[in-house]
Amino acid sequence: MPSQPSGVMSVWDADPALGKVVLSVDQIAKRVAELGKMITADYASRPPLLVGVLKGAFIFLADLARQIQLPLELDFMAVSSYGRSTKTSGVVRILKDLDIDLTGRHVLIVEDILDSGLTLSYLRKSLLARGPESLAVCSLLVKRSVEPRPDLEIAYVGFHIEPEFVVGYGLDVAERYRNLPDIRVYVAGEPA
Ligand code: IMP
Ligand code: MG
Repeated sequence: MPSQPSGVMSVWDADPALGKVVLSVDQIAKRVAELGKMITADYASRPPLLVGVLKGAFIFLADLARQIQLPLELDFMAVSSYGRSTKTSGVVRILKDLDIDLTGRHVLIVEDILDSGLTLSYLRKSLLARGPESLAVCSLLVKRSVEPRPDLEIAYVGFHIEPEFVVGYGLDVAERYRNLPDIRVYVAGEPA
C-alpha cells in the first residue's frame, strides 16, 4: 500500500530534516515478504521464537511475523545503545529482558539495523548463554562499513545501505520518525 497517492506531498516531504528516500514502502514490503518466505522454508520443521529488539524493530517484526506461515512465538527485548545521539556509544544496556525461557528453542533475533555491530554482538552472546537449540539473526538493514566489525553471521539481511543515518519504518532519531512509512536519510545533524 503506497503511503500517499502519487503526486500528493506528504507531511514528511515538507520536513527539512529528512533527505532522500532510501527505501520506499513498496520496496520494503516486497523484501519483507521474501524474507518471510525464506524463514518459513528454513524453519518448517522447528517453529521459531522471534525475539524483536525494541524499539527500532517493532514495525519490521510486525510485518515480518505476518509473512511467516508457521506457528511461531514472539518475545521482546529492549536495549539502549545510542541514547539521543546518532553515534554509537558502544555501551549496551538491557532495558527489558525476555519473558520466555530460551532453553531448547530455535531463536531468531529480529533487528532493525546493524551499524557498528556492537548491539548484535552483545545480544548474541547474552542469548547464546541461555541454552537455545539454535540462534540466528535477521536484520532489516546492514550499513556498509569500512570499519572492522565483530564477526557476526547475519542469516537474513533485508538491505545493505550506505553508511548514512536513516529514519523511518521503526527507526528513530531521539524517538522521532518511527512512524515514517518509508526509510529516509536524516540530514539535520544531532537532535536538539
Ligand atoms: P550498532 O550497535 O552500532 O550496530 O547499532 C545498532 C543500533 O543502533 C540499532 O539497533 C539502531 O537502534 C541504532 N542505529 C544504528 N544506525 C542507525 C540509523 O541509521 N538510524 C537509526 N538508528 C540507528
Ligand atoms: Mg535497534
